[in-house]
Amino acid sequence: MSDIETSQERIICNGRLLSDENFDGEPLGRETQMARLRACLHPMLRGEEPMNASLYGPPGTGKTTVARWVMDDVCASGSQRIGVYVNCWQHRTLYSVLQGIIDELKVLVSEAQDTNFKFGRIKQAFRDKPAVIILDEIDRPMPSQREEIIYGLLNLPRTGLICIGNSTRALAMLDERVRSRLNPILIEFLEYSMSEIEKILADRARQALTPRTWAPDHLKSIASAAGGDARAAIQMLRRVAAAAEMKGGETLDTQLIDLYSPQHQAIQRWSRFEALSEHEKIIWELAAQRGPLGTTELRRRYGEYCRGRELQPIAKRTFSKYLSRLSSAGVLRISARPMTPGGRMVQVEQP
Ligand SMILES: Nc1ncnc2c1ncn2[C@@H]1O[C@H](COP(=O)(O)OP(=O)(O)OP(=O)(O)O)[C@@H](O)[C@H]1O
Ligand SMILES: [Mg+2]
Repeated sequence: MSDIETSQERIICNGRLLSDENFDGEPLGRETQMARLRACLHPMLRGEEPMNASLYGPPGTGKTTVARWVMDDVCASGSQRIGVYVNCWQHRTLYSVLQGIIDELKVLVSEAQDTNFKFGRIKQAFRDKPAVIILDEIDRPMPSQREEIIYGLLNLPRTGLICIGNSTRALAMLDERVRSRLNPILIEFLEYSMSEIEKILADRARQALTPRTWAPDHLKSIASAAGGDARAAIQMLRRVAAAAEMKGGETLDTQLIDLYSPQHQAIQRWSRFEALSEHEKIIWELAAQRGPLGTTELRRRYGEYCRGRELQPIAKRTFSKYLSRLSSAGVLRISARPMTPGGRMVQVEQP
């Protein structure tokens, strides 16, 4: 074994637990959301159809983890209940979602069959048991495709849907009839607090890192750099541990944490930028086209932009709300005090 291989074993002892997909432990600090989702699925225990739910919140707040955990708990394999997970980022049409469900159920159907045939096979496989389908990243398909997916699946007998997205906007845009049929229980996921992130990191470090190679203070520094995003925090823990090993160190290293922080924050800003709504992105782009400018001027440019594209502009109050959101997402900097007469000064933070 080479020197690097020997030293690589010193800090990380179970690296797969630091990757995004492999963790299947109980989510920490999400008791309220778990209880609410469990209540939606509870009718399944009596053989009845579950209630539809919508889980929403910013990236890395545990939506996918919680939904999978609760579904797996209620629909343990071999039970009288069916649970299926579909990622709508990978499956963006009804046809593809149905294929995703068929693949998960391990039902043999040749790919070329049409939608009705696929529906028939899924009903057969459900065998009239109560079922729940997680539609993760439901905000990714185009609105018309999204509507077709939800409307189609609502027709499956005794089946409930758990829709997951960064906001409720994707569901609010559905046609009135589909929306009222879906009528989901809303379950919000706010960003984690620093102490929650520290607990999640400590739990992960206990399982993935060798004892005595890390200390609570290391995790505190990582948590404060990562913000309220658990994915970002775990990724950073992994990078810092791997870099400390490569350096031949025996513990995590504060200097490395500092080194990775700014780099990490830039990546995080990008992922936050991706999560913005259409009008938030327009506002950011208009601000990015200029140096610092006042809010009044930015709003004037925004109105002009919308008129030029026959877009319905958002109201003045919403505009101010969006500005605060862009500022708390770390993609816009807004001066604390107004500069008369142009309002407060706005400047972009480059992602
Ligand atoms: N409460 C938690 N306990 C333990 N680990 C967690 C918890 N919340 C999130 N994580 C970890 O953080 C990572 C991201 O979580 P998850 O995928 O559930 O976030 P998400 O809200 O679905 O994000 P996105 O909107 O980007 O899809 C996962 O690797 C998961 O293991
Ligand atoms: Mg997710």
